[in-house]
Amino acid sequence: MTEGPTTDTLTVRDNRTGTEYEIAITDGHIRAADLKQISIEGGDPLATYDPGFVNTAACRSAVTYIDGDAGVLEYRGYPIEQLAENSTYLEVAYLLLNGELPNSAQLDTWVHEVTNHTFVHENMKNLMHAFRYNAHPMGMLQSSVSAMSTFYPEAINFTDPEVRQLQITRMIAKVPTLGAWAFRHSQGKPYVYPDNDLSYAENFLAMLFKMSEPKYEADPRLVKALEVLFILHADHEQNCSANAVRSVGSSGVDPYSAVAAGIGALYGPLHGGANEAVLRMLRRIKTTDNIGDFIEGVKAGKEKLMGFGHRVYKNYDPRAKIIKKATDEVFEVTGKNPLLDIATELEKIALEDEYFVKRKLYPNVDFYSGLIYEALQFPPEMFTVLFAIPRTSGWLAQWQEMVGDSDQKIARPKQVYIGERTRDYVPMNQR
Ligand code: SDX
Repeated sequence: MTEGPTTDTLTVRDNRTGTEYEIAITDGHIRAADLKQISIEGGDPLATYDPGFVNTAACRSAVTYIDGDAGVLEYRGYPIEQLAENSTYLEVAYLLLNGELPNSAQLDTWVHEVTNHTFVHENMKNLMHAFRYNAHPMGMLQSSVSAMSTFYPEAINFTDPEVRQLQITRMIAKVPTLGAWAFRHSQGKPYVYPDNDLSYAENFLAMLFKMSEPKYEADPRLVKALEVLFILHADHEQNCSANAVRSVGSSGVDPYSAVAAGIGALYGPLHGGANEAVLRMLRRIKTTDNIGDFIEGVKAGKEKLMGFGHRVYKNYDPRAKIIKKATDEVFEVTGKNPLLDIATELEKIALEDEYFVKRKLYPNVDFYSGLIYEALQFPPEMFTVLFAIPRTSGWLAQWQEMVGDSDQKIARPKQVYIGERTRDYVPMNQR
């Protein structure tokens, strides 16, 4: 735990009245509510305006630390590089949720619990079958996670620690099953039930790719690569989808509905949907000869270089470095993805170009991950599902922290009203 909050003060002078106000600075932030002592015309309290929360903290959190300038990412203080090297996804999920690495007995119990909650209610198959043949797997995942709240109505009593823990275990255990079934639906293949003899990553691969063989045998190098990808995607502090989970969860709704909101946010191409967009972008560029024209189009504002840029990282995303290294291991098994040459050449050119350098645009987690997913035979529509599955543990760690934070209340931001004020109704014959 870091030492207690440090407090300094600001003196704010209101030049309209000459009055000065002392505002406390705690842990590098001021409380926006402290500005309410300053009145504006009409006597309303002064408020802040921060679209996209570019410079606003919505919570105090101990889950994940990012230093965007230094390219540092730590889960509960452990550097992502060490976790990717030494840990497993379920061990990292335990760390995010409980704040400490599990001992051997704790890990065994946790793995046992998750392994024995991988099945979903049979009616979930009917829900999946109701989707069109070409339904996007992210839409299917969001709907099915939301539907889980109807199978477990007791989840609304999440203030009971046992009820809360059971829903967390269920969601982490079942999202791979739901994600795999969404994939099998899009392939027109029968759904594969979980195999509780397999590890979390192996079981996921089996539910995705098992056909008529009695037992699915995953290549251990691919299992390791998937574990690393899951670890890298597990949490990322107050990103758009974590904020959605916290905001929706702050209404007191069940955790399934809150996580379904996070899946919806992650679906967006500016967030988790970027990995799918990167692959489509690389396919459209086709050859390294076309990179120059493409980059000129980006600089002209015609489109974004997907997989580049980040609200927090103004340096290379540490996850992108690790994923780029993982591509070597995966391509040993699957054969090299030819799009890798376009991606590396694109990165090289972009990192030297003033437009990107000035804006501190570097590859983010989504730039290389799609190349691995494609090499693993996933269609682009599945890429964001592969992001959502591991991020479920991070979303739940953030949600759980919000539930236990006495400082939190229902999320309801203010607005700057710029519309018409009171006016009389106009009869149709006068419009
Ligand atoms: C994820 O928040 C998280 O932690 C998210 C995530 C996680 O783990 O949860 O890390 C996962 O979402 C990674 C980001 C994946 N998205 C993309 O790769 C999509 C492409 N990137 C951009 O859309 C953008 O960089 C964002 C959305 C990621 C960040 O946007 P910001 O912080 O709001 O920055 P901005 O849009 O204000 O950009 C600042 C400038 C602008 O130019 P000017 O107006 O100053 O001229 O940089 C430009 C932008 O146009 N810019 C880009 C660009 N990203 C920003 N220009 C070209 N290509 C890009 N990718």
